[in-house]
Amino acid sequence: MTITLEKLDTRYSIQQVEMSKAWLNEAISEVLVKIDAMLPRFMSTFPAASAKGDIYPAVEKVDWTEGFWTGMLWLAWEVTGEKKYRDVAESLLDSFEERLDKNIKVDTHDLGFLYLLSCVNAWQLTGNVRARGLALRAAELLYQRFNTTAGVIQAWGDLKDPARQGRMIIDCNLNVPLLFWAADETGNTHYREAATRHLTQAARYLVREDASTFHTYYMDIHTGQPLRGDTHQGFSNSSCWARGQAWGIYGFALSFNHTGDASQPELSRRLSHYFLNRLPDDYVCYWDLIFTKQDNAYRDTSAAAIAACGLAELLKVLPLTDPMRPAYNNAIALMMHNLRAHYFAHQQDGLLREGVYNFGRNMGINEPNLWGDYFYFEALVRLSRIWTPYFC
Ligand code: GLY
Repeated sequence: MTITLEKLDTRYSIQQVEMSKAWLNEAISEVLVKIDAMLPRFMSTFPAASAKGDIYPAVEKVDWTEGFWTGMLWLAWEVTGEKKYRDVAESLLDSFEERLDKNIKVDTHDLGFLYLLSCVNAWQLTGNVRARGLALRAAELLYQRFNTTAGVIQAWGDLKDPARQGRMIIDCNLNVPLLFWAADETGNTHYREAATRHLTQAARYLVREDASTFHTYYMDIHTGQPLRGDTHQGFSNSSCWARGQAWGIYGFALSFNHTGDASQPELSRRLSHYFLNRLPDDYVCYWDLIFTKQDNAYRDTSAAAIAACGLAELLKVLPLTDPMRPAYNNAIALMMHNLRAHYFAHQQDGLLREGVYNFGRNMGINEPNLWGDYFYFEALVRLSRIWTPYFC
């Protein structure tokens, strides 16, 4: 199947906003003020996945999202060098250890989000051996979710549950780096093989011919044959969930670093054009890309922040002479300028207002969410300095 490369809207060919050093410094200072305000409340617990009435409840070991808080603390430490961020991030390792020791909510592919942003980064930034060990344990659990016949990592739930077997999801593109990292650390090539096979299946089945994506796809674990695509968080099985598309943009750009497969950044490019061509006037996507202005749908600011990071990663791997580079830079600048100008959470917890966690299940609608905050900060860091991604 040939995946469509849409011609990118001409609105990205003009530089409309500039990412100046002063703008970035101010934006990062604003972020640090917000993190400092949250820090006293979240030293031994974590902000919940999304805010409720603009306030993040405190939680621990309940969700796929706790790593985004430690991720932000490590970003803050990298940017400022201030010990207070590192101290809290390191003390929260206890929670990540207990989660593994007691098997609390670890039947998920989200081990990547959790342990890359709490342990792999701690190891890489400071040589924390304990963090390395925890990340390797998490990687082994993630590997156990790989079904060799189907060639995919099961997204959610009990590995013996027939209703959940063989289901992969586009979000997992950001979790497989944990396996690549573990392969590099240990020399165990089966981690790399599982990650590579999963990405191949994701590219083949989660991406539709028009370069939109299914959120999830079922494979037959007995025959390895493809079954059907559907959605968990999108508007419909045939629509394109905005955050899923953003996970794809970022994940297929990242994976090139491990696989050397140039078709993956080319896929990221195709997904990016599909995404960017469906942005409204302020360049911040609706929560599903099926919506247009008339639908009056909620935005998902988190998807915009993830897409900005994904495009930044894509720019890292494309040739210097790629003719689309200026347009992708313009797209990042437009999304980030609008996020800061119109969606920054000055009055409430978190960094970005107007995320949508799961519309169909009435979760976190039109509220800040923790991953939106993390990726907004990551995008600012990427724009302002040389930086090694935690999704390594
Ligand atoms: N990975 C879950 C989500 O994006 O909501």
